[in-house]
Amino acid sequence: MTLSGQTRVAAVLGWPISHSLSPSMHNYWLKENGIDGVYIPLAINPNKIANFIKLLPHIGFAGVNLTVPHKETAMMFVDDVDSLAKRVGAINTIVITKDGSLEGRNTDVFGFKEALNQNTGTDIIKDGIAVVIGAGGASRAIVVALLELGAREIRIINRTLEKAELLAASWGPTLKPVLWQERNEALSGASFLVNTTSLGMKNQPHLDLSLDALPKTAVVNDIVYRPLLTPLLCAAKNRGNLVVDGLWMLLQQGRPGFAAWFGCDPVVSPKLRDYVLKMA
Ligand code: ATR
Repeated sequence: MTLSGQTRVAAVLGWPISHSLSPSMHNYWLKENGIDGVYIPLAINPNKIANFIKLLPHIGFAGVNLTVPHKETAMMFVDDVDSLAKRVGAINTIVITKDGSLEGRNTDVFGFKEALNQNTGTDIIKDGIAVVIGAGGASRAIVVALLELGAREIRIINRTLEKAELLAASWGPTLKPVLWQERNEALSGASFLVNTTSLGMKNQPHLDLSLDALPKTAVVNDIVYRPLLTPLLCAAKNRGNLVVDGLWMLLQQGRPGFAAWFGCDPVVSPKLRDYVLKMA
C-alpha cells in the first residue's frame, strides 16, 4: 500500500476494536478498486467518543463506522441523523460532507435486506410471519427492515420480555412479544427466523431452540458469523431449511459507507468472503 498526500482516510471506532473484520473488508475493496484510501481500526474509550467525533472533520477523515458500544451515543454528536437511523435509534456510519458537517446513517437495515436479496430474495418476508430472537440493538435494525419488507407479523422472542414489549410499543401491533419459555411453539407458521443475540457464537452458550414447529420452507438467518455455520444454522440446514449466514449482512452493511467515502459501490463477492474469513 502506498499512501499519497491525497489518501482518503476512514476508520471503525469501537471499544474494544481488535476483533473487527471491517478493516479487512474495506482495505480489500480499496485495493480491488485501485483507490488511494485507507481504513483503520481505532479503539476509542466511550468517555472520549464525543470529542473524537467532533474532531473528525478537522483532521481530514472521509468518515467512520461505529461499533459497540458507540452506535447509540454517537447520534448525539453528529449534525444530522437520517430518518432511517432515527427510526432504528442508532447510527453505524458517519459521512463527513464537503462543508465539514457530520451525517449519521444506519446501514444495518440495508445490509440485512441485501443479505437476503443476495441469497434467498425477500419474498419470504412479504405478508409472512417472521420470528426474531433478541430485542437489542441488532434486533432493532432487523425489525425495521422486516417492517419495510412488509412482514404481516413479527414475533419477538426475548429472555427479558419487557424489552420485546418496548419494541412493540415503538413500532405497533405487527410486533408480538413472546415469552422466552414459549420460543419453540412460536416458530409455528413462520416463513423466516433470525437470531440477533450472541448465542451460538464461539465461546458462548448455544441458542437452546427446537426447530420442530418451524415449517421446512422457512429461511433461517443468524447474525453470528463466528462460526459461519452456527449450531442454529446447522440444525436448520440438516432438516432442509434454507440458511443465510451472518457474514452476508456484515459485508453488505459496509457497502453504503464505502460508496459515500470513496465514491464507488463495492461488490460482495465469494473472493471477499474467503479473504475476510481467512483474516477472522
Ligand atoms: P446487540 O446490540 O448486539 O443486539 P444488546 O443490545 O446487548 O446487543 O442485546 C443482546 C440481546 O441478546 C438481548 O436481546 C439479550 O436478551 P436480554 O434483553 O434478556 O438481555 C440477548 N441475550 C444475550 N445473552 C443471552 C442469553 N444468555 N440468553 C438469552 N438471551 C440473551
